Amino acid sequence: MNVQSQNWVAIGQVTDIPRQGSRCVKNGDMTIAVFRTTDDRVFALEDKCPHKNGPLSQGIVHDGCVTCPLHNWVISLETGTAQGADEGQTASFPIKVEDGTVLLGL
Ligand code: FES
Repeated sequence: MNVQSQNWVAIGQVTDIPRQGSRCVKNGDMTIAVFRTTDDRVFALEDKCPHKNGPLSQGIVHDGCVTCPLHNWVISLETGTAQGADEGQTASFPIKVEDGTVLLGL
């Protein structure tokens, strides 16, 4: 039997996401922020800072991380882990781009 554990959902074009910015996608009650780096890599994190739930989607994207707009924690876009001396992790989601279309793994 071929069991598919990952459900890939098309959420739009890479070009719909501003470089160094993000776009939010709803998944039930959860908001997922989809980020685009300057070199067009795309990452998805729950839109909730591990510190005090700040909206990471409104943060600044730089060096593979996003800086939370509330208290400047720096969160890895790849793993959702807080960098430096801060501790915590937000949920990250698999993402891929095919022919310019962004697919989110749920
Ligand atoms: S809520 Fe993100 S740094 Fe405080």
